[in-house]
Amino acid sequence: MSKKRKGAVLRGMLLVTLVSLCLVACAPMDKESIAVTEEENDKIQIGFSMDSFLIERWQRDRDVFVSKAQELGAEVNVQNANGVVEEQISQIEYFIEKEVDVIVIVPIDGDTLTEVVEKAKKSGIKVIAYDRLIHNADVDLYISFDNEKVGSLMATYLKQAIGGGGTLIRILGSPADSNVEMADNGFNSVIEGTNITVDVKEYADGWLAETGYNVTSDYLATGKVPHGIMCGNDGIAAQAIKALSENRLAGSVYVVGQDADLDACQRIVEGTQYMTVYKPIETLAQTAAEIAVSMAEGEVHETDAMIHDGTFEVPYEKLEPIAVTKENMDEVIIGKYHQKSDVYLNVQE
Ligand code: BGC
Repeated sequence: MSKKRKGAVLRGMLLVTLVSLCLVACAPMDKESIAVTEEENDKIQIGFSMDSFLIERWQRDRDVFVSKAQELGAEVNVQNANGVVEEQISQIEYFIEKEVDVIVIVPIDGDTLTEVVEKAKKSGIKVIAYDRLIHNADVDLYISFDNEKVGSLMATYLKQAIGGGGTLIRILGSPADSNVEMADNGFNSVIEGTNITVDVKEYADGWLAETGYNVTSDYLATGKVPHGIMCGNDGIAAQAIKALSENRLAGSVYVVGQDADLDACQRIVEGTQYMTVYKPIETLAQTAAEIAVSMAEGEVHETDAMIHDGTFEVPYEKLEPIAVTKENMDEVIIGKYHQKSDVYLNVQE
């Protein structure tokens, strides 16, 4: 139900209740409390369905989104599906039953939500795919970063570091996450035609970080040492580096990841991780909250880019990712994403 429609129904119900109350009790109700009740009932309702909070960044996504939406006068109901697709679908069903105005989704698996999104849209609810695309669903907006660029930045930095030729291990994220394929395309576009060989390419189902450890340990057990390791995110990179350090190789293999997690930034300044891709979460979450509220108010959001979701062309709000190494850590991260004392915790000045 649209906010305006819902507002009208609620106002009607409120009036009936007030009239009955007055008839029965004849207790006068001051205008101020009527206005407050009406205002509360009329608030924009947003349902935010999240994959899980295992990875550091998602708590920040939630906090920034909720505080921005609240600042704009909306109420946000956050549901955590803990990585279980069925749970996510039933949480979205719940939002549909609650007749929220907008549903914002971080899909666990971009291929599993077509029907439930269709149902939401048929009920007049706007749907935003947050950070990850939902396939064949014609969402009202996909807001994320330039995920191809995430991959191309990783490849560019590795290529430079290893001098244009060498062997890599690649440990990508979940195959069910559309960002992974996009980053993979970006990565391949850079290494194509170079003397870089990818010896191993594995996926981490459900973004399971331990995959980084297992793949790296297995590779090192063959007696070979890669020149670089491309990890789908910093959680995977942490585990790959753990395997490297067990083999006294931490710091001598170039490892790249994404998210600018605090421990990844620490490893970068300490020298065991080469680079991470930072995606300004504040910008993503605040922009998403602003657009969600404006959509609930009936505005149409125009974007510069569109993306094919497998069936439909959907509007794509594409934000810029930034490569972070030791060299630009202070400029890009310190004071903006992490504090200096935290990042340099183990480094002597
Ligand atoms: C995001 C990454 C994140 C990963 C695991 C991806 O979709 O783009 O930033 O590390 O999911 O949660």
